[in-house]
Amino acid sequence: MAEIRTIGVANGGGDAPGLNAVIRGVVKSAIRRHGWRVIGICNGFDSLIWPEGCLPLTWDAVSGILPRGGTILGTTNRGNPFAYRHMENGKEQVTDYSGLCLENARRLGLDAIVVIGGDGTLSIAQDFYRRGLPVVGVPKTIDNDLSATETTFGFDTALHVATDAIDRLHTTAESHHRVMFVEVMGREAGWIALQSGIAGGADVVLLPEIPFRFEAICAAVRAREEQGRRFSLVVVAEGVQLPEKDPAGQPIPPAGPGEVSNRIAGVLRGMLQKEIRVTVLGHVQRGGSPSPFDRILATRFGVAATQLVARGEFGRMVCLRAGKIDSVPLEDAVAKPKLVDPRGELVEVARSVGMMFGDES
Ligand code: F6P
Repeated sequence: MAEIRTIGVANGGGDAPGLNAVIRGVVKSAIRRHGWRVIGICNGFDSLIWPEGCLPLTWDAVSGILPRGGTILGTTNRGNPFAYRHMENGKEQVTDYSGLCLENARRLGLDAIVVIGGDGTLSIAQDFYRRGLPVVGVPKTIDNDLSATETTFGFDTALHVATDAIDRLHTTAESHHRVMFVEVMGREAGWIALQSGIAGGADVVLLPEIPFRFEAICAAVRAREEQGRRFSLVVVAEGVQLPEKDPAGQPIPPAGPGEVSNRIAGVLRGMLQKEIRVTVLGHVQRGGSPSPFDRILATRFGVAATQLVARGEFGRMVCLRAGKIDSVPLEDAVAKPKLVDPRGELVEVARSVGMMFGDES
């Protein structure tokens, strides 16, 4: 194995609380345990295309970043170097900069690169690995939808934010006898919705993995009214599948993240004759200081990534299995998303304590 002197660190895709803790873990362990130099690749893979954007990551550069949200490297979810979209003379062009990136990695003296990302970024890392770049991966997403790891850093913090929002909405819902909707992130996976729903004691949770009917939500709210509970809390996962028609047969225009809960609430207002308010939590779930759990997991991942580099185990991603740090081939890491099992233990637990998923008859 070639001797390692310098490594790069890159992160791509949406930010997640704990990114800085991973970067710090990589840099400090690289310096302290191995005596390597570390270079920060900024804004996804952009500074492999334009290397003047690289950042020397010294011990001092990463001191004090542990509790900070965001990422000191900056990030983007649009910078795939294999198909880079940019405007030229008013027209969109797609350029393959991967060869230039490999050339620049060599010029920068990078003996290996730690890539922190979700499925999109890790697929790019896998493509670079196939082209001969020594790469190791670190899983990152608040959505917790990567099947190769038990959990990702960022998820716990997002869960805290969503649960806190549900707690706050509960008190105002109760005072005003309203139905409160809260839309949470997660793309096609319902983990944030399900777990914050359980933690916050939501009455109805709508998940991408469980198709819902409007009538079932109305029945759940009315059943509560009959028991003297004149308010309800509905958690909506942003990736929930919207029925094509409402119960009156009227078409429902498609709606994506940020709009879908309003669309559902719009139909239910007519059916329930109750005041409904909608809160879309959005990027609040991704910002701010990471929870202690995420700081610790991110630090463990960062240190484990440098250990993979030291052992020459490239093309692999660190992961958590049964509470222990492990690793898997990058190709397995991005093979299939981890979704909520509609018949799984967590859904059963939620149903057992009276939570509805809008699929009940
Ligand atoms: O994957 C993380 C995530 O926060 C999703 O939950 C959400 O759908 C998406 O990113 C939002 O992306 P953007 O920052 O591009 O709006």
